[in-house]
Amino acid sequence: TAIDIQADDLDLGGHQHYMYKEIQEQPECLERMIRGRLDDRFGVSRLDGLNLTPRDLRGFARVKILGCGSAYYAGQIGATMIEDLARVPADAEAASEFRYRNPIIEADTLYIAVSQSGETADTAFAVEEVKRKGGRVVGLVNVVGSTIARACDGGLYLHAGPEIAVASTKALTNMAVGFAMIALALGRVRDLSNADGQRIVAALRALPKQVAAIVEAESQIAEHAKICADARSLFFIGRVRGFPVAREGAQKFKEISYRHAEAYQTSELKHGPLALIDEELPTVAIVPSDDLADRNLAAMQQIKARKGQVLAITHDDVDFGDLDVPRFVVPRSEPELDPILLTIPLQLLAYHAALILGHDIDKPRNLAKSVTVE
Ligand code: AGP
Repeated sequence: TAIDIQADDLDLGGHQHYMYKEIQEQPECLERMIRGRLDDRFGVSRLDGLNLTPRDLRGFARVKILGCGSAYYAGQIGATMIEDLARVPADAEAASEFRYRNPIIEADTLYIAVSQSGETADTAFAVEEVKRKGGRVVGLVNVVGSTIARACDGGLYLHAGPEIAVASTKALTNMAVGFAMIALALGRVRDLSNADGQRIVAALRALPKQVAAIVEAESQIAEHAKICADARSLFFIGRVRGFPVAREGAQKFKEISYRHAEAYQTSELKHGPLALIDEELPTVAIVPSDDLADRNLAAMQQIKARKGQVLAITHDDVDFGDLDVPRFVVPRSEPELDPILLTIPLQLLAYHAALILGHDIDKPRNLAKSVTVE
């Protein structure tokens, strides 16, 4: 299906930067992503574009997601959703590595190529490698008719509209939603119940308003951007569902602020990186309301004890007790979908830090929107 591009998709619509405009547009982009693709009664997604029958979906023993940069991190978010909802082993790999390592292609693996532009050379080569060896590959692509979209056996368009800023925001969010819908399709031909399916469908429908609420609370996140902009180096930490969120947060931050930002699993801090914590190295911690919240709180306590500053991206029902840490609260989704909403404030944090630093936000140095060469 062709995407409806309006004239003002390509102008700034009064905004100072495309990145800012694209962050703001996310609620409507999400509406377009889910439109016509959800079935409330059966708690399932309808993804005809994948060209996969229910029998095909049942036959996959594994899912392998391939993308680069932020698309790869979206793939990591997606792999966890697929494992959570469908209980099918899933992982994401950087397409830039996959293509060079003579990968083993399995007939019962579903390969998913994910790309905003659909022109990233590494991802396009990875698709070719899968197809040459007889694998089945579907695409999660934004640009209609792009090289990767055409090369895949089927796929879902992201319907995010043109993304101009080098730092990807709205496309990434729609990628994560695309993975949630694929997870639903894989889950509902397996053991995911109708009730659980309906729970996820309702949560997907709630996302646009929830994203709008986060974007409206922008000034709260902007308050914290100064500390991050002043730091020479930052940590972004999260665990399990929160870890790809942290990776994407660090990626967005370094792309436009030119600051060293590194993502770690919160659980790995004590195995080395804690040595770096002092008053000059702030940490952004992803702390959803899940069964790991207590462990996340303990890690933040350890950082505070070493005089590190922490900003927590969290939910309102996480009990911080007497831990005195600035918090940005995002609305709760269903736990499997929480990464989608936890990512949004990190876009705003990166944006406001880069604004303070006076950088060229839409065209950061050394980077191209689409890497079409090796
Ligand atoms: C995202 O902010 C980056 N600019 C970059 O990592 C990007 O996601 C990557 O190059 C992949 O691009 P694609 O989605 O167009 O394939």
